[in-house]
Amino acid sequence: MAILVTGGAGYIGSHTCVELQNAGYDVVVLDNLSNSSEKSLERVEALTGKKPVFYKGDILDRDILNKIFAENKIDACIHFAGLKAVGESVAKPWEYYENNIAGTLTLVDVMRQNGCKNIIFSSSATVYGNPAQIPITEECPKGQCTNPYGWTKSMLEQILSDMQKADNEWNVILLRYFNPIGAHPSGTMGENPNGIPNNLMPYITQVAVGKLPELGIFGDDYDTPDGTGVRDYIHVVDLADGHVKALKKIEENAGLCIYNLGTGVGYSVLDIVKNFEKANNIKIPYQIKPRRAGDVATCYSDATKAKEELGWTAKYGIEDMCRDSWNWQKNNPNGYDS
Ligand code: NAD
Ligand code: WQD
Repeated sequence: MAILVTGGAGYIGSHTCVELQNAGYDVVVLDNLSNSSEKSLERVEALTGKKPVFYKGDILDRDILNKIFAENKIDACIHFAGLKAVGESVAKPWEYYENNIAGTLTLVDVMRQNGCKNIIFSSSATVYGNPAQIPITEECPKGQCTNPYGWTKSMLEQILSDMQKADNEWNVILLRYFNPIGAHPSGTMGENPNGIPNNLMPYITQVAVGKLPELGIFGDDYDTPDGTGVRDYIHVVDLADGHVKALKKIEENAGLCIYNLGTGVGYSVLDIVKNFEKANNIKIPYQIKPRRAGDVATCYSDATKAKEELGWTAKYGIEDMCRDSWNWQKNNPNGYDS
């Protein structure tokens, strides 16, 4: 079976390519490299013995999509391609709606014209907004997003669900990721953010490697055990494995399914700092800063549904996530450019 992986050169996509190839799937990647390097696919080859078939191009480009379907027998698409920086989406909403929404509409139109109606979509816990219940089950109502990026995920979930309801030949699996961190245990693949990282773990690893002087902790007065924000961090290799399990569900003609991919455990910012320091024996200097606009106090999953229906659970713990994030950063201080 050949799987089209859009955004396959990116952080989660490249780790998923490894797990897919290890599970015996043929992988075809489409990526415009706007936020990634083709070198990630060379690392996939080093780990699996096979380089995914690679097309450099855009999901907005019908011609390259049609070419991919003409040249490969694609059975399903795992759709990672998208812009994902929350702050940037507030400054450039049109670019986010164009890339993420128009891009996905183009992709699914070409898919159906070519008779491929199986898609796994990268959604996000951000669709729950300020969650109505903790832990968050899939039944928890979607909420008000605080930024255009979040709205693209929420709207695309609606669009793909409506398409599946109108045409039950579609199998649509919406995977709501919690907070992906960590890196491949080999230390050869990981997250490669442009500029100063927005997310917690890459910020911590850049402090550890000496690129940034100290971590700012955004608020210590939340209603949480130590006052700092609580999240459900999940190892990227576990997340990648969740996609392989979701493909099995597609092979069973599942229709429309929604799954949280998280560990079901919440850690505060201070928990992460302490675990990182302990796992790697490195001190992370920090200062308490004001709250960051748009942050919620607590967000963690109930991961029961994915366990029961996909047979998937996260295997890596917080120490593994901290060790592997650091192992990647210290071996590749400039990401794939080093
Ligand atoms: P990433 O930026 O590393 O990967 C996205 C990839 O898509 C990049 O390689 C980029 O070059 C490519 N891309 C972007 N627009 C494209 C386009 N128009 N055509 C072709 N390629 C394009 O991000 P990631 O962390 O691997 O995230 C993958 C997906 O998961 C995204 O859809 C993201 O929104 C979603 N997600 C990520 C997180 C997270 O915290 N990392 C959490 C929830 C959901
Ligand atoms: C985690 C915690 C911060 C940086 C984001 C997106 C979400 C999803 C995952 C894509 C929070 C605190 C952070 C720092 C800090 N992405 N923090 N200092 O905001 O939970 O989720 O990534 O879908 O949509 O919003 O992740 O890593 O930015 O923050 O104190 O320098 O760390 O306040 O409590 P977040 P994060």
